[in-house]
Amino acid sequence: MRPMFPLSLLAIGLALIAMTGCRREAPAPAAAPSPAASATPAADEAARPDEHSYAEPEKVRTQDVALELNVDFAKKQLAGSATYTLDWLDPRYGKLVLDTRDLTIEKVVGERADGRWADLIYTTAPADKILGSKLTIAVPERNRRIRITYHTAPTASGLQWLEPSMTEGKKTPFMFSQSQQIHARSWVPLQDTPIVRFTYTAHVTSPADTMVLMSADNDPKAVRDGDYTFKMPQKIPSYLLAIAVGDLVFKPISARAGVWAEPSMAPKAAAEFVDTERMMRTAERLYGPYRWGRYDILVLPPSFPYGGMENPRLTFATPTVITGDRSLVSLVAHELAHSWSGNLVTFATSKDAWLNEGTTSYVENRIIEDLYGRERADMESVIARNELKSEFTEENKALQSLAVKAGVLKDPDENLGSTVYTKGAWFLAFLEQRFGRANFDAFLRGYFDHFAFQSVTTQQFADYAKVNLLEKYPGKVTQDEFDAWLYQPGVPSTAPQVVSPRFEAVDAARKAWLDAGTLPDKALTSKWTTHEWVHFIEGMPETLTPEQLAALDAAYTFTGTPNGEIAQRWYPLAVRSGYTQANTAIADFLQRIGRRKLIMPTYTALAKTPQGLKLAEEIFARARPGYHPITSGSVEQVIREAKAGAAPGR
Ligand code: BES
Ligand code: ZN
Repeated sequence: MRPMFPLSLLAIGLALIAMTGCRREAPAPAAAPSPAASATPAADEAARPDEHSYAEPEKVRTQDVALELNVDFAKKQLAGSATYTLDWLDPRYGKLVLDTRDLTIEKVVGERADGRWADLIYTTAPADKILGSKLTIAVPERNRRIRITYHTAPTASGLQWLEPSMTEGKKTPFMFSQSQQIHARSWVPLQDTPIVRFTYTAHVTSPADTMVLMSADNDPKAVRDGDYTFKMPQKIPSYLLAIAVGDLVFKPISARAGVWAEPSMAPKAAAEFVDTERMMRTAERLYGPYRWGRYDILVLPPSFPYGGMENPRLTFATPTVITGDRSLVSLVAHELAHSWSGNLVTFATSKDAWLNEGTTSYVENRIIEDLYGRERADMESVIARNELKSEFTEENKALQSLAVKAGVLKDPDENLGSTVYTKGAWFLAFLEQRFGRANFDAFLRGYFDHFAFQSVTTQQFADYAKVNLLEKYPGKVTQDEFDAWLYQPGVPSTAPQVVSPRFEAVDAARKAWLDAGTLPDKALTSKWTTHEWVHFIEGMPETLTPEQLAALDAAYTFTGTPNGEIAQRWYPLAVRSGYTQANTAIADFLQRIGRRKLIMPTYTALAKTPQGLKLAEEIFARARPGYHPITSGSVEQVIREAKAGAAPGR
């Protein structure tokens, strides 16, 4: 049971006497007991519309947030204020509950009818490990605007502060945010649930030699002077709030798309992502206009814990997809697709994550097919579906249905990737196959228009699909077939299968080598893309002999590869096979890159033997200062579980 400390307004009044840091000006009304206050912690949790937020969006909603922040690299701190414009939905309610984590709240004031700002009483509950601290502000007058003055902790879970040595240029420090899933609350006090959508503005000051960018209207021509203003005029959920600060320059791709990166990276990034405008046109043709103005991509240092993050108008991306051959640009297709599935139509809670990631993975695949052909789109589907097959086990059945039950997902960062991404996309591929592409495209476009700028639940999706697919085109899919995808674990028997002839050629080449030691012909492998190399390695037996690995290395130099997708598969195989020649390269890879998906399989493989675990711990000790807290958390968990003798996690 999580520690939960719901305070009635009466208790707030009493606590005020004992607590320092709480201020008040408005007198007695705040102390009146509220009929809305919950009776027990359990009732409180069950009554919340989003179990990962303390907010009460049915009572009051944030309409706009105005940020005033200063970026202090020496203190690793954001300090300033957030001003909320509120819509009091319940005219008798007198509390504003916000999510916070590791924030120091200095002052809370409300704007009165006469325009003066007066102190409000507030209390911060002890922190829950996953959810952070509930901030309860007594607002008896239901002020339309409230302002919180606060500062962040150097350990804020949603920010990473990088020393200059951890950047490309090595001269300027860097800072970036990663708010999804519930980390925005570690840098802004918020109703941190996607049920609530708000517009925002920001005025940010930083050292004069740094550029500040946000998930807003970044001006490619902004003068770099340490003083920046931003406006996000479309309503967004809190997890799309984003900021980055560093030595960043802009390079255009088209009139409305471009890249931001450190100076030495910018030309490479612009060349890698040259197809971005074409991707936008494909998505627009299929799903309607791009509604966010500019679409820029910010290339972050290699410690970025994810591949990409769909921050509106400014996708955040890992540099590990810049391979020089554009083979990993499906990342851009994916993050761009979120401009429809996710940012325009948003999941209501983490339990509905597939609505964001599954729909996006489906749209991503359609963009790839349109630009690069069916063969490549199919190879990407097969890689993802093979991963699903190895990820789905008897133990994680509760996380295999698209609609996750309440209470199952303790930490919203621990959604099962294969369910939300791959099974979600597969479900839509199934619907496309049964209803036909033209009808299904029209349906999806209609869904994006119908729910534009709203947050929806799986149930709302199902209701909409019932009317606009199942009943509109009767006899194609039964309700039972539809529901099996949403509510059953595993992959339904109705799932359409994909065969990839290019992968069949890879399978044949691998078999010939395993059976007779004959390496595939250069004429064949010279045409292979990252996809084929990935499939070649993934289809290998659990272990090979060190001699076999040495033979592959002699032919293809996998060890030391600059391609993270190949490294992600090769190094675990090397570890399992006792191929210790790769250890130096493994240490280098794990230290250089902080993208969780790329490095976790190698840590997990190492943690399976005592010597491997020792090496993992040594490498982690060195790499840790450069890792993002999200990555450190995952590595720690694998090491902890290995030490406890339990089966290591992912
Ligand atoms: N929105 C996600 C990243 C995310 C998901 C962050 C859940 C925190 C919690 C983003 O769009 C994403 O899916 N990124 C993928 C890349 C993609 C090509 C599949 C990633 O980072 O691996
Ligand atoms: Zn995504």
